[in-house]
Amino acid sequence: MNNGRQTPQLPPTDHRPKAYGGPSYEEVADLRRRYLTPALFTYYKKPLMIVEGYMQYVYNEKGRRYLDGFGGIVTISVGHSHPYILEKARQQLDTLQHSTTIYYHPTIAEYGKMLADKMPGDLSVCYFVNSGSEANDLAMLMARLYTGNYDIISLRNAYHGGSASTMGLTAHSTWKFNYPHSFGVHHAIAPDSYRGPWGRNDPEAGANYAADIKNLIQHVTPGNVAGFFAEAIQGVGGCVVYPDNYLKDAYGYVREAGGVCICDEVQTGFGRTGEAFWGFESQGVQPDIVTMAKGIGNGAPLAAVVTTPDIAKTLAARIHFNTFGGNPVSCAIGKAVLEVLEREKLQQNCLYVGGYMLDGFKGLMEKYDIVGDVRGKGLMTGIELVKDRSTKEPATEECERVWERAKDLGLLVGKGGFFGNVLRIKPPMCLTKQDVDFIIEVLDAAFGEL
Ligand SMILES: Cc1ncc(COP(=O)(O)O)c(C=O)c1O
Repeated sequence: MNNGRQTPQLPPTDHRPKAYGGPSYEEVADLRRRYLTPALFTYYKKPLMIVEGYMQYVYNEKGRRYLDGFGGIVTISVGHSHPYILEKARQQLDTLQHSTTIYYHPTIAEYGKMLADKMPGDLSVCYFVNSGSEANDLAMLMARLYTGNYDIISLRNAYHGGSASTMGLTAHSTWKFNYPHSFGVHHAIAPDSYRGPWGRNDPEAGANYAADIKNLIQHVTPGNVAGFFAEAIQGVGGCVVYPDNYLKDAYGYVREAGGVCICDEVQTGFGRTGEAFWGFESQGVQPDIVTMAKGIGNGAPLAAVVTTPDIAKTLAARIHFNTFGGNPVSCAIGKAVLEVLEREKLQQNCLYVGGYMLDGFKGLMEKYDIVGDVRGKGLMTGIELVKDRSTKEPATEECERVWERAKDLGLLVGKGGFFGNVLRIKPPMCLTKQDVDFIIEVLDAAFGEL
């Protein structure tokens, strides 16, 4: 059904996918069903099989191309199978795949400097690990060891990982098991100026949301805390952008209570927000610990905790080790990602193309009442769907229909927010304006068909 509209056409590309010669879709489905954990969930009524990628596009086993508007869950930063990244990874694979940090290797050392050079102030010491959950786990440990305090403040609607300890930082019942977690973690209200009590036009919104942290410290903790975790923009929670000054006030209360401030840049880092290289810079703060993953490695298992020399020292008191952390191949890729980001001016691209995309979303909001809110920075964006703009009743089922229809039309986007009513559009940072025109056409068609 397309109501007489033209079917949206993907922008042309020179890339030709290879002929796929692996097991069939049905065979893969059967192998997964029999041999992989049932905990793996898939997107779409009929899951997609993706077998190839090139820059902002991915291909299924039949060679059908899709625009990847979700970037492998906000992980493909510079582009799928970017030629320079592949070349650097291949060179390293040909030479030495693994050694561990018990021996010197040049790449981890050079990469540590390159990453530290991207950080403000004395955030100059890197600990490389493999995933965002591991990075946050380590940040919790460092915060507690450094301060000698135990309690940690996190935010409702946050996602910081699914490991046993980070599940406690995460604050969505959908991601929490009935299992002991959250030891000493307390959740302040989410600074969500669309759904929360203080709206976007309220100049005091940031201060009011932050006051809940002060209240929590006074009433729920011994008065001292180890640290405060916040994403720069809540990702899984549905692209929640904090009101101005929120983190500034929040960090003030946490530091007064002896805590350190941890910013989770797993989704927002590396220029994705366009305005700055790190999401926290838009809030005018400098964290004490920054955790990063996903886009740092453009798909390689690489993550990092970057902190000050004093905080980093805490882990030298005992043996602490991570077998794959700082692996030469991952670090070669991490270095190459930083080079490509700079050379191809991808942060600037996020600002420019992301701004154009947000304008397109605002146009959709004018046209369709179901669009309750559009928000984001750069190429970190969300569209929240509601049944009624005054009650803000989540339009979860409609969101699913738009998301499913977008896929049929060749566009993959994410879904998020506690109610699953936020379309999350966070594509590779090499997205073009022509791609955005396609995204808007597809969403326009899908909303029009509701
Ligand atoms: C903000 C944030 N932090 C941490 C994580 C956990 O990362 P990982 O899945 O690599 O453990 C995620 C994953 O989605 C995330 O979005």
